[in-house]
Amino acid sequence: MARVLVTRRLPDGGLDPLVGAGHELVERPRDTPLSHDELVAAAGAVDGIVCLLTDRIDADVLDAGAGRLRVVANVAVGYDNVDVGAASARGIAVCNTPGVLDETTADLAFLLILAASRVASDAEADLRDGRWEGWGINQYLGRDVHGAVLGLVGYGRIGQAVARRATGFGMEVLHHARTDTGIPGYVADLDDLLTRADVVSVHVPLSSATRHLIGAPELARMRPNAVLVNTARGPIVDEVALAEALETGTIFAAGLDVFEAEPVVHPRLLAAPRTVLLPHIGSASLATRTRMARVASEGVRAVLAGETPPNLVG
Ligand code: GLV
Repeated sequence: MARVLVTRRLPDGGLDPLVGAGHELVERPRDTPLSHDELVAAAGAVDGIVCLLTDRIDADVLDAGAGRLRVVANVAVGYDNVDVGAASARGIAVCNTPGVLDETTADLAFLLILAASRVASDAEADLRDGRWEGWGINQYLGRDVHGAVLGLVGYGRIGQAVARRATGFGMEVLHHARTDTGIPGYVADLDDLLTRADVVSVHVPLSSATRHLIGAPELARMRPNAVLVNTARGPIVDEVALAEALETGTIFAAGLDVFEAEPVVHPRLLAAPRTVLLPHIGSASLATRTRMARVASEGVRAVLAGETPPNLVG
């Protein structure tokens, strides 16, 4: 029997693989996050950690665990919060939750594509705040989604799930990825994709190569009617540059589910026109979040049993 730290409350049933294997779970008495110091202190006394994307699993945590800790499983597909290199150097495996959240996240990306294109948040805010004085032919004029060109930045599982939805909406779909996908619609040059797309949706992982991938020069290349959607990671988009692009009309609208310094949202984005903002809920359906927790738990169980789980990232 091993000891596994679970850094936050997970959906019911999410820890079943670990419970079934008879492991001892170290759970939070209340659903509050551990401070970084608490995480470091806890890491030395466990064999595995099930953590969330809000936990920073850096060299300090891994050093504290080194010797006993064998596996860290992030209940997320993105794992930029985990220093995978430092984990590997200490012989600690890292797992994530690929495959189980693609459709749910793609649904949310499409929600943002629709809501931002049709200025739904501004319109709803006016209605709720009593500013709507009745139907007007020139009110809340958005951009049509049907017939528009969708440019996907990144064409992994989630990007492809968004592409399937876009086809049903009568959109033309282009995609950019580092290596040629060989699939119709591939655009080798990001700038080329940005100049051709009416809607740009970001689906790449956060890394040093993708930090501020969409900054002022890229926004300047986009069409004045363009809509930018980000359901990947906040730092991929330069928020100040985006706020400026929205303020000045360089692009038409934005839909964001992720932010550079969550939970802080840049005040200029909060004030920017034609902007739909959601609090990182891309994978937030009960079924999907439960599946994610199970996949992470199963990864920990497998590593502790000496197996190689399919969701190993390092
Ligand atoms: C959520 O953002 C995830 O990476 O799963």
